[in-house]
Amino acid sequence: MSRVPVLTIDGPSASGKGTVAERVARALGFHYLDSGALYRLTALAAMQAGVALDDEAGVAARAAELPARFHEGRVWLADADVTDAIRAEAVGEGASRVAALPAVRAALLERQRAYRQPPGLVADGRDMGTVIFPDAATKVFLTASAQARAERRYKQLIEKGNSASLRALVADMQARDARDTARAVAPLRPAPDALLLDTTHMGIEAAVQAVLDHHRTQQGN
Ligand code: C5P
Repeated sequence: MSRVPVLTIDGPSASGKGTVAERVARALGFHYLDSGALYRLTALAAMQAGVALDDEAGVAARAAELPARFHEGRVWLADADVTDAIRAEAVGEGASRVAALPAVRAALLERQRAYRQPPGLVADGRDMGTVIFPDAATKVFLTASAQARAERRYKQLIEKGNSASLRALVADMQARDARDTARAVAPLRPAPDALLLDTTHMGIEAAVQAVLDHHRTQQGN
């Protein structure tokens, strides 16, 4: 077991966990792991290579040799800046499909643990507290109602000049939650020792503060 501290922040899509995790990492001066990006990169690499997303061995081989790099807020796949490309709906959908394949999750396991470097790590995803870092001292499970999460995503899309349907977003959100929660390997669920934080009626700043307060309390234990 590593002595390097880890804070895990898990939760469903658009719960705000990425933004909260990044800000908590900055406040503590810790490294930050966006594990969802690794699944998105795997899906993108497979799609670009013409590997079918249900070809478990083929996709796992891509995951095992993923030429991924995170640098100053940008995400690279070999020599290509794919920061925006991995956020496309089709890639998110692909990520959620490849994430259900056990060989793909196994291929990404050690890679995720390798991000645990001094002075500490904040890791966000679906199984950070349950599977990847079960010994983390601080675990948070961030939720918000599907309606609230869809409204947040709707606002982001409209602000970026895209058209969007709130009703379709609520349906997408529920479908992705159902797939992440029902899958056999590493399903989305809170670790028994996680703090449950419902952000339906909570702003980002308040959520960041709640995580930092919880971390401080855990350190005292
Ligand atoms: O968090 P994000 O939406 O970027 O993740 C994309 C997809 O990757 C999710 O829908 C989920 O299926 C999968 N994922 C996962 N385990 C993680 C992180 C993401 O299964 N730790």
